[in-house]
Amino acid sequence: MIARRRWLGAALAFPALSCATGQPAVFGLGVASGDPAQDSVVIWTRLDTAPDAPVPLRWEVAEDEAFARIIARGDAVARPESAHAVHVVAGGLRPGRQYWYRFAALGVASPVGRTKTLPERADTLRFANTSCQHYEHGFFTAWSHIARDAALDFVFFNGDYIYEYAGRAIGSRGWGGVVRSHEGAECVTLAQYRARYAQYRRDADLQAAHAAHPFIMAFDDHEVENNWAGPHSEKPGTDPAAFAARKAAAFQAWYEHMPVRPVPRGASITAYRRFRLGDLGHLHVLDTRSFRDDQPCGDRAQLPCDAVARTDAQMLGAAQEEWLFAGARAPGFHILAQQVFMAPRRFADGRMSMDAWDGYPAARERLLGGLRARGVTNPIVLTGDVHRAWAADMPGGGAEFICSSITSEGDGREAEPNAAGIMEANRHIQFHHARRGWTRHEITRDHFTADYMALPFVTRAGSPAEHVARFVTARAASGISRA
Ligand SMILES: [Fe+2]
Repeated sequence: MIARRRWLGAALAFPALSCATGQPAVFGLGVASGDPAQDSVVIWTRLDTAPDAPVPLRWEVAEDEAFARIIARGDAVARPESAHAVHVVAGGLRPGRQYWYRFAALGVASPVGRTKTLPERADTLRFANTSCQHYEHGFFTAWSHIARDAALDFVFFNGDYIYEYAGRAIGSRGWGGVVRSHEGAECVTLAQYRARYAQYRRDADLQAAHAAHPFIMAFDDHEVENNWAGPHSEKPGTDPAAFAARKAAAFQAWYEHMPVRPVPRGASITAYRRFRLGDLGHLHVLDTRSFRDDQPCGDRAQLPCDAVARTDAQMLGAAQEEWLFAGARAPGFHILAQQVFMAPRRFADGRMSMDAWDGYPAARERLLGGLRARGVTNPIVLTGDVHRAWAADMPGGGAEFICSSITSEGDGREAEPNAAGIMEANRHIQFHHARRGWTRHEITRDHFTADYMALPFVTRAGSPAEHVARFVTARAASGISRA
């Protein structure tokens, strides 16, 4: 405590802490780090209680948890127009190393976060992959397990970090029973999205995971609106200008709460980006929302209409496709970290999800064919969105690992009633599990492994986590096998 008082006093000339224990409300939204590179990482915080004015802030990065070896420090300003959120790109770091970071503002020190840079070379990398954390549907216990997994190099989150829906009463039924309520109406304005992120970010389990690992964040639909597609709202007839304003608010709030490098420009953001995983491969974060054309015949699972066969279907858009292909030549694994189901998934009655790649088959062919033409015959596709764990061979080459959700759709069950029919109709899909949880991945030079972790329950706190399956794909081969 003496060291912490001295740091605050010397660096900021602020009064010594009046309360040295407990989590100060100033940093009640926690700290986070993300978008790791070999020599830098983004460190983040947002002041939860601050005056309506710019607030000066100090940050420090150290090689040890006690901050005896500080290797970078600086000043920043938390501005009210950015909801007092702060992003610092901490540079000059060494590859493949752990670091610790903290902030101080208004005479208070933040909790300490741990982060890690990506390696220049490595024999093994490990990361957790999960998505979809509907606050009303359960407790974020999975994050407490992920927070304690000290061997992780990072976390990849596919999207649905918040859900935009209005609050419902505890005990409400319908889609996912409500065990704790959203505050407020459906998010449309910047103030509403900010408040929603803050509500989620006050969760202790979520804060613990952010403080323990760097995150690589993507967004899906619910960060804006269910099933949005490019300029199109889910609701036909929505005024395009109104929807653009809603997207601008949603992206601004997403940026303000995520430890990311991409900065929104109004209603658009270039969130696709690439991470070099040492000499083991590349992680390509894709945006399957911003540049897609509208779902061809409604958003839901249905029998494909004629428009599904359109040859110019766009899921990534031309610029993102070109960017991906340009980065697909390097050796090693190519991991497509994205949102919606890519392998074909026909339900037993013939319906398919028009919001997934099944609604955009020409775009899927262009993507996978383009990768094959550049020598990427075994792409690893990471998917969220469906709130159930699946594992599939990608027809034509590759593997798809679909993670479950942190909470969305509540406790779930081991197998959905329709899963056997889906696997019968899609022989490339090998695995299904419908509890909540995450997938833990391990990359080596020759293998990519998926360990499926599940929680028996999320509608009460304190669930244990269980290992339910392991699948492996070899770099030189294609397709998955159960291990
Ligand atoms: Fe979701």
